[in-house]
Amino acid sequence: MRSKFTVHALIASATLVLMAGFANAETVIKFSHVVADSTPKGQGALMFKKLAEERLAGKVKVEVFPSSQLFGDGKEMEALLLNDVQLIAPSLSKFDRYTNQIQVFDLPFLFDDMAAVHRFHNSATGKGILNSLEKKGMVGLAYWDNGMKQLSAKKALKMPEDAKGLKFRIQASDILEAQFKAVGGVPQKLAFAEVYQALETGVVDGAENPWSNAYSQKFFEVQPFFTESNHGYLGYMVVANAKFWSELPADVRAGLEKILAEVTVEVNKSSSALNDGDRQKIKDSGKTQILPFTAEQRTAWQTVMKPVYDKFTDKIGKDVVDAARAANKP
Ligand code: LMR
Repeated sequence: MRSKFTVHALIASATLVLMAGFANAETVIKFSHVVADSTPKGQGALMFKKLAEERLAGKVKVEVFPSSQLFGDGKEMEALLLNDVQLIAPSLSKFDRYTNQIQVFDLPFLFDDMAAVHRFHNSATGKGILNSLEKKGMVGLAYWDNGMKQLSAKKALKMPEDAKGLKFRIQASDILEAQFKAVGGVPQKLAFAEVYQALETGVVDGAENPWSNAYSQKFFEVQPFFTESNHGYLGYMVVANAKFWSELPADVRAGLEKILAEVTVEVNKSSSALNDGDRQKIKDSGKTQILPFTAEQRTAWQTVMKPVYDKFTDKIGKDVVDAARAANKP
């Protein structure tokens, strides 16, 4: 008969073996997103996987699910909170039910250029927005660019009145809804995966997206006109499930954060060139016309959309809107 001591010793060593097993277990990170691999976000996700699996070999495995394969808009945040996926990078427009401040990014004609966007990302206010989601069970890890949005439609959009009565697909954002209402358009919130078909079948007449999304989703095949409007910013927040992230072994978390910082620099450095390349491919396709936006047209759209600021500034916070505007000055 075994002594009590032996039984205790056996239990203790079995527990140690189990603990060692857990400590050595490979952490699987599912990274789900809605766009193509070839876009800035798609490339960033793949770069993150490559570096994480190289540098944390045996400790981390990253599974990337692009193009809404696993979860589409509307479901991916829910999935993150349930820890069904551990990393996502939704467009900033899609966080509007989680924080009011983040809606600042949707204001039309807010940033003069991408350099201004980056100054805002790196400002105290920008960093504050990144940290504001923790109470909601998500940890904001980085801002990734796509780029500036371009208008597209079944007819040429030059002056704001050209948009009157047209149905525009928008992301789930009240500011984007107000933006298109301001020009007399009829905005419709639709998931990204549904946009091509909605444009093709005439469920909607127009949309807004950067060149990389317009090219990779083939929107240019079903939109005879693009206006090079650069009227708004489309960017992402890379977010993790907060509990999952805080429970990672400290060395793994630190390693992943360092990798994310490197990937962020790379994504934000290369996104403009990637969009320019896709603009050229759209032009070369000959399937659509790219219309320039003259200074006069830009001022006209800006003027008509100004009430959007009046409507949302208090909700977002005047300090946040002012800080974003201030980023236009180097
Ligand atoms: C959209 O829904 O139009 C975009 O936000 C998709 C994306 O993630 O770029």
